[in-house]
Amino acid sequence: MSTIAHLSDVHFGHHDPAVVAAVEAFLFARRPDLVVISGDFTQRARVAQYREAAAFLDRLETGGLQTLAVPGNHDVPLYDVVRRFARPLHRYKRFIDDDLCPYWENDELAVLGINTARSLTIKDGSVSYEQMHRIREAFHQVPESKTRILVTHHPLFAMPLGDEGELSKVANRSVDALTAAADAGVDILLAGHFHRSYSASAREMVETAGPALVVQAGTATSTRLRGGEQQSFNWIELAKDVLDLQVFRWSEGRFEPGRRTSFAFDGENWHYVGREEQSGAADAPAQNAS
Ligand SMILES: [Fe+2]
Ligand SMILES: [Fe+2]
Repeated sequence: MSTIAHLSDVHFGHHDPAVVAAVEAFLFARRPDLVVISGDFTQRARVAQYREAAAFLDRLETGGLQTLAVPGNHDVPLYDVVRRFARPLHRYKRFIDDDLCPYWENDELAVLGINTARSLTIKDGSVSYEQMHRIREAFHQVPESKTRILVTHHPLFAMPLGDEGELSKVANRSVDALTAAADAGVDILLAGHFHRSYSASAREMVETAGPALVVQAGTATSTRLRGGEQQSFNWIELAKDVLDLQVFRWSEGRFEPGRRTSFAFDGENWHYVGREEQSGAADAPAQNAS
């Protein structure tokens, strides 16, 4: 079994230091095989914010944790128009990672990140044809026995924004990107951006999407909360064709475990197989979100 801590939207510059400290303490206590951070490291891509984000990442890595990160739309400068178009991710590359297509694997998992943040759109994401080629190429040599995971900041689906059935805008070229992910045998799609935790089989959202399981993370440490959802991150335990997901949510000064949600893959689709209540667990939101 492998373990992933899936954090997103840490938004340094608009973060709560107490929450950051609690996340770090959790990660060092539980020591996942991989810490995934799916973008929006900063609030406005300023140097001071990047320095804080880099220090956070550095503390994790110095402590022996392995990380995989992708940028988010907030990691591209918004108001500095020259920098936005001339060198949009220069600071991200300098402070966080100069690889915008990071890849990580162990005996059980193959994980690829791609950058969906762009200069031309303020907050929407996009996937290029070159990146789709990279998705196919990266997973081509991966043995069947490994679980393939694709990490983006922007989800490749229109995501539910609330309980009213309202859906988000979808990333540009998402249909082609989902085809590439399906061709590459991607099992799990991890993303963030909406500051809401959510999980569902891709086919429940888009019939032609392929069999991947979609797992969204909320904001781990930002004080910009949406839909009344507190800071949270995902704890994922993965064996071949079985995924257990537990959302840890900030509640009264500490992270509390939510329900543990299990999914199983039957060779064609992921199925929700049940929930296990935790004593003292914070309530998870309704819907198939966790
Ligand atoms: Fe964000
Ligand atoms: Fe975002």
